[in-house]
Amino acid sequence: PARYAVFGHPISHSLSPAIHRLFGEQCGIALEYTAFDVAPDAFADAVRRFLARAHGANITLPHKAAAFALADERTPAASRAGSANVLTRLADGRLAAHNTDGAGLVRDLAGRQQCALQGRRVLLLGAGGAARGVAWELLDAGVEELTIVNRTADAAAALAGALGVTRARARYWQDLADLGSFDLIVHATSAGVLGQPLALPPGLANPQTVGYDLSYGRSAQSFLAWARSAGARSACDGLGMLVEQAADAFALWHGRRPDTDPVYAQLRATLA
Ligand code: ATR
Repeated sequence: PARYAVFGHPISHSLSPAIHRLFGEQCGIALEYTAFDVAPDAFADAVRRFLARAHGANITLPHKAAAFALADERTPAASRAGSANVLTRLADGRLAAHNTDGAGLVRDLAGRQQCALQGRRVLLLGAGGAARGVAWELLDAGVEELTIVNRTADAAAALAGALGVTRARARYWQDLADLGSFDLIVHATSAGVLGQPLALPPGLANPQTVGYDLSYGRSAQSFLAWARSAGARSACDGLGMLVEQAADAFALWHGRRPDTDPVYAQLRATLA
């Protein structure tokens, strides 16, 4: 069978092998999918060696920028984010970088979470790799006003500038309490992953607000608890986004997009 893998550090809790195995079963496609835990200084060599014989790889933290850098070709979505969550070996052996994270988020929001984006006010917390991976797609989906707030103000301003439209604006973290409430709050900082507390004012949420954490499992707990206590309509983790970005990678590799709902349901049941 064709070979695929996910590269990360750490990687032991990755759901990607299970997701791709379930997609393969559903589509009747035999594949071998491995998880590789590789330290940053060994990543480029390891992924190049793997892809010399395999078809594609998913890339997760902390390797997404390095994956983008080592590719020979880049899709527009990868280029604007400066990061890649998918590498594909082309017929001539060169490597192509894709980024399907933003599309995965938007698809999960629009479908599973019933959160329309057209005309909405959205708060993006964070301006690092995860935030850059979804910001353009939120604007493309018709968000009316994308407010970016980051602990380090310069990074928020840089992202707003890179987005290059007046709909995207940066605000200071210390002014969060003065911003009013939002239709959607996307948590894209790594505070949860690092186990660090995040102090957010309750007024950011109203009873229609969707709170969305790009991570899942333990890392998402603290933000989701805040969203619930602030009275948001819903508090969603990034499991749906994970499954959707994986389906886009699967479609790139196999020419067919699997039905994500049964796979999402199965993973949700095992996570709970
Ligand atoms: P990732 O790929 O997960 O986005 P990253 O590119 O290192 O990782 O970015 C981490 C993001 O989380 C940044 O926006 C960072 O804020 P700074 O730019 O100020 O560093 C944010 N972050 C990390 N820990 C945080 C904390 N304890 N409180 C608030 N923001 C935090």
